[in-house]
Amino acid sequence: MKADVLLGLQWGDEGKGKIVDVLTSKYDIIARFQGGPNAGHTLEFDGIKHVLHTIPSGIFHKRSMNIIGNGVVIDPIIFENEINEIDKLDVEMSDLLISKKAHLILPTHKLLDAASEKAKGKNKIGSTLKGIGPTYMDKTGRNGLRVGDISDKNFTEKYEKLKNKHIQLLNFYDFNYKLEELEQKWFDSLDTLKRFPHIESEHFIHKSIKDGKKILAEGAQGTLLDIDFGSYPFVTSSNTITAGACTGLGIAPNKIGEVIGIFKAYCTRVGSGPFPSELFDEIGARLAKIGNEFGSTTGRARRCGWIDLPALKYAININGVTQLNMMKADVLSGLETINVCTHYMLDGNKIDYLPFEDNENLTPVYTELKGWDKDLMHISSLDEAPQEVHDYIAYLEKELETPISIVSVGPDRKQTFFR
Ligand code: GDP
Ligand code: IMO
Ligand code: MG
Repeated sequence: MKADVLLGLQWGDEGKGKIVDVLTSKYDIIARFQGGPNAGHTLEFDGIKHVLHTIPSGIFHKRSMNIIGNGVVIDPIIFENEINEIDKLDVEMSDLLISKKAHLILPTHKLLDAASEKAKGKNKIGSTLKGIGPTYMDKTGRNGLRVGDISDKNFTEKYEKLKNKHIQLLNFYDFNYKLEELEQKWFDSLDTLKRFPHIESEHFIHKSIKDGKKILAEGAQGTLLDIDFGSYPFVTSSNTITAGACTGLGIAPNKIGEVIGIFKAYCTRVGSGPFPSELFDEIGARLAKIGNEFGSTTGRARRCGWIDLPALKYAININGVTQLNMMKADVLSGLETINVCTHYMLDGNKIDYLPFEDNENLTPVYTELKGWDKDLMHISSLDEAPQEVHDYIAYLEKELETPISIVSVGPDRKQTFFR
């Protein structure tokens, strides 16, 4: 049995959490492979609205097993809050296993994130300030602390050593900070992390694949935030792409099955960086309002724009996407026309790819399609959708050369149509 991968094709917040939750009944194991609490994955079902940051989105299905993989970075304080929030709900949580190789976000990683952003001034990345960049820097710099280290008798010593290095860096940045209270909270929260089995998740996954178990790898962020292929430096610090599922869980490339690419019927971005099809007019404001486009982790307003085909084609190629899921089609309802960015103009030339340079200076070239009036949120099957919706889907499938297997018309589990 091969493992399937589900990931975002734009700049994050495509609706990954919702679809993982919808699909979990078809899988035995849901495993997060990268990122950390910079993610905010929203699930809505039975009148409950819930946002997950580190915990996989299969957690509300009794039968499923959830794994936080080695590629994820964990803040024990945020993890504890997440567990407490789940405990408050009247829903049983399914099993959760954590890789011993997942790295820990220290309080000083968060301070370093803030110090680095402050030092960048107007060129800041717009980080979620969860300590993601500094933690992955320590991972690749071979200095990090991992979940498996918590039970080591020298854990406190290792912690102090890394912390002291961070303090030197904070002094270099001339950054003011308060650490004691945060540090105490961090150590206290390790108890919650210890409540869950710490495992060598790659072995568990290999055995599960051999035993014919169905695995879904859940991505965080989106392809255009990938450290290698995203709009660098305005990216996150991990590989958000299919290859990230291989390194972040220990799944061999030839054991990857379906790759499900999620995209919004339009486009959003939160934080700094180029966004060629961004709208600064009343249509952009309308998409933000109807789409309720505020960050699930930071509450920041998301920038909105038209769908961007060159960027989507790039993401499909890099990830080897085999099927697409189109999210938030309902948000386009009521528009007379819908624009689709098919090319960019750069220095008077028409191009159909994202160039290395001058991403800030791309002018989108649009094709105009007919919009629709009907509110899609209340339809009970795609047959009830106006012809223009079907035309939009058919146009995208043709341009992207990939089938759209799911269309989503609202945040709830039920507002999901399979094709
Ligand atoms: P993720 O990070 O990819 O999991 O996405 P987020 O949860 O950050 O953002 C997606 C937002 O859109 C959430 O508030 C979802 O509840 C909401 N959502 C998901 N699918 C749909 C949809 O089809 N229509 C509408 N209107 N909202 C949706
Ligand atoms: P989900 O999984 C949207 C963005 C930040 C910033 C950049 C770097 O919910 O889709 P970082 O905190 O990683 O140093 O921030 O990446 N970003 C996200 N944007 N959705 C996310 O996750 C994001 N995670 C990080 O806004 O621009
Ligand atoms: Mg999100």
